[in-house]
Amino acid sequence: MPGPRLDIAHNKKRFLGVFPMVVEELLDTLRAESMPDDIVEWYRRNLEYNLPGGKLNRGISVVDTAEVLRGKLLEGDEYQKAAILGWSVELLQACSLLADDMMDASITRRGQPCWYRVEGVNNIAINDAFMLEAASYQLLKKHFRKESYYTDLLELFLDTTHKTEIGQLIDLVSAPEDRVDLSKFCLKRHHLTITYKTAYYSFYLPVALGMHFHGITNPEQFALAQKILIPLGEYFQVQDDYLDCFAAPEKLGKIGTDILDNKNSWVVNVALQHVTPVQRKILDENYGRKDSECERRVKEVFIAVGVEAKYKAFEQAAYEKIVGLVETIPAEGRELRREVFMAFLRKIFGRTM
Ligand code: FPP
Ligand code: MG
Repeated sequence: MPGPRLDIAHNKKRFLGVFPMVVEELLDTLRAESMPDDIVEWYRRNLEYNLPGGKLNRGISVVDTAEVLRGKLLEGDEYQKAAILGWSVELLQACSLLADDMMDASITRRGQPCWYRVEGVNNIAINDAFMLEAASYQLLKKHFRKESYYTDLLELFLDTTHKTEIGQLIDLVSAPEDRVDLSKFCLKRHHLTITYKTAYYSFYLPVALGMHFHGITNPEQFALAQKILIPLGEYFQVQDDYLDCFAAPEKLGKIGTDILDNKNSWVVNVALQHVTPVQRKILDENYGRKDSECERRVKEVFIAVGVEAKYKAFEQAAYEKIVGLVETIPAEGRELRREVFMAFLRKIFGRTM
């Protein structure tokens, strides 16, 4: 069975079509508490500024997964319900990005100033991030509390959040602002960081939600999905590290901060493996300094040691490894289908934004 054709542009439009209803339902939770108009309006602005602007890959992948497993496109109320599950993931994602941008002192996100940098917002963004997280549970309660898998959904959201927070902790603790010591960086720790801070919530969570929605209950199927999706998520975060350094901000929608922030990124780790003593000294003296001239010198070394070619080789090897993992699923598998993973892989392979 070939399954439904996944059309990325159409799927995004369809998914965004559900957003106004999501906003109104969430605003209703404040109206039900008789909140003043200015508070309801603040919440609306938070939702409208921070949710719809990204690629929405995570949210749409919940629907894609459900459709591939179902073997046909979802329609009507069923589509809407799957999309609401997708928006719950996007709310969690928006929450983590709002907070991450403050921690990383980022400037732009999704082509606009980071929320905490918008006039009048500042530290209120901390509470706004919490409100986005709470919003995802409000949606789950309203639409899924009668489902047999409601507790599974809650557990999945809570466990995934916990893992993401652990990952963010390793990321931050590995990047002290006042002490640059490149000898502390290593790819093993980088791997641990990206598995926890990105792979679970960006890859396993959407697919596992689509599986629950479809009615899969067998824990072995979830374990199998995780075995493929965690490497896929790691690959995605290496791309994020590379693009942070080398992509054009206008295209990426954000200005990279990894070098300024002293991050244990894939790029610096690979460069450290190939530098001459002179280049190493340049990195020691310029990495992690809040200075654009220092950042420029670091990038010069990265280019000179051939990071781009190493990245291309990494991408190719990661692609082949993931396809190999996908092929461990029987071609005629009755529960999980290869296309669930290939759809995700196609969305990210070779991405430049
Ligand atoms: C972006 O990484 C940030 C993350 C992947 C996770 C951030 C996690 C938290 C703030 C903990 C709270 C988590 C949840 C789920 C509520 P990055 O800085 O490498 O990427 P960027 O370039 O997009 O900023
Ligand atoms: Mg960041």
